[in-house]
Amino acid sequence: MGSRAASWSAGGEVCQEDAARGRRLANLRPLTHTRGVNIPALRWLDPPAGPALELLDQTRLPAQESVVRCADVPTLVDAIQRLVVRGAPLLGVAGAYGVALAALRGDDVPAAAAAIAGARPTAVNLAWGAGRALAAYERAAGRPGAGPGGLAALAEARAIAAEDAAASAAIAAHGLELVPPGARILTHCNTGALVSAGEGTAFAVVLAAHRAGRLARLWVDETRPLLQGARLTAYEAARAGIDHAVLADGAAASLMAAGQVDLVITGADRIAADGSVANKVGTYGLAVLARHHDVPFVVAAPVSTVDLSTPDGAAIPVEQRSPQEVTMMAGQLVAPAATAAYNPAFDVTPPSLITAIVTERGVLKPVTAGNLRDLGAGQEQICRSWAAADVER
Ligand code: MRU
Repeated sequence: MGSRAASWSAGGEVCQEDAARGRRLANLRPLTHTRGVNIPALRWLDPPAGPALELLDQTRLPAQESVVRCADVPTLVDAIQRLVVRGAPLLGVAGAYGVALAALRGDDVPAAAAAIAGARPTAVNLAWGAGRALAAYERAAGRPGAGPGGLAALAEARAIAAEDAAASAAIAAHGLELVPPGARILTHCNTGALVSAGEGTAFAVVLAAHRAGRLARLWVDETRPLLQGARLTAYEAARAGIDHAVLADGAAASLMAAGQVDLVITGADRIAADGSVANKVGTYGLAVLARHHDVPFVVAAPVSTVDLSTPDGAAIPVEQRSPQEVTMMAGQLVAPAATAAYNPAFDVTPPSLITAIVTERGVLKPVTAGNLRDLGAGQEQICRSWAAADVER
């Protein structure tokens, strides 16, 4: 598809932006030419190249599009911990493929599944995906004539990927209902094709809004300290041809005060039974700001991110990451040597600050434990008691 045109339409009639006449752009609808994003963030390799999992190395984006090949579970666990592969839904897919990899290699499969599930503690999809693949492996292994467990785990991983792609499309369709015409949307972290087998969660809604001609501007929080917004969401937005601007996280307050944000939409790493949402650190602050400025705050996530076995926000394990992620930038120390740092990867937003949660099953509004239970009732909890003991690394 062609690149986004620098022209706008009003009631179907195309006109050029004309500042001299003081034309009010707020009443005009952008012409959209949304390009397909199509970023394969993960690829399974069958023999002879595999069995292996090939990951687009998200730590090197946008400067470099390179891949990391994981032919064993320790390499995959390392890639997960370094954020080569990241984002809740894709972690679910990667976790399942990792279990299949272990099984096809003849490794100790339950031990491999536990190592994968414990690699990052907050995004519940990781343990969920690993658990589903392990259960498929064990079912096959325990059934005479059912075939090798490795193939069953691989089939389960493929099914999880297909389900995630379908969920992403449904989330986009449901989320579009919440986007007003001419919306200026603020998002945080990265929630597009890089974190999903489809077009993502919150970013899938943004894409749907752009295709529908409802998106006037995407505001992208840079998302300190690892800059998933500036590096990855801006990369995806540019590829899609979306008009976007990156802002320092601390600028969101004045942007909202200036009336420049109509909707905030983010993803989630875990949604507890009471509707509390863990997501990239900074999300809670945005929700507080949104409430103060009367801006709707919406969370988009697949049902696989809903964890009814975690009762509330306080029970969500929050991953603490290396202080160097805060005290260094691009390999350079930016604080005095040996400065301590507080570096939680996520924070928790209470349901009272969330306008709606969008899943593939529809829009949950208001966000209450009862509504969530009804919506997520079908989700099988396969997250075993895999330790989040090493939350502090
Ligand atoms: O530490 P990351 O980069 O894995 O954090 C990712 C996020 O917080 C995303 O917002 C979340 O996983 C939702 S992705 C659809």
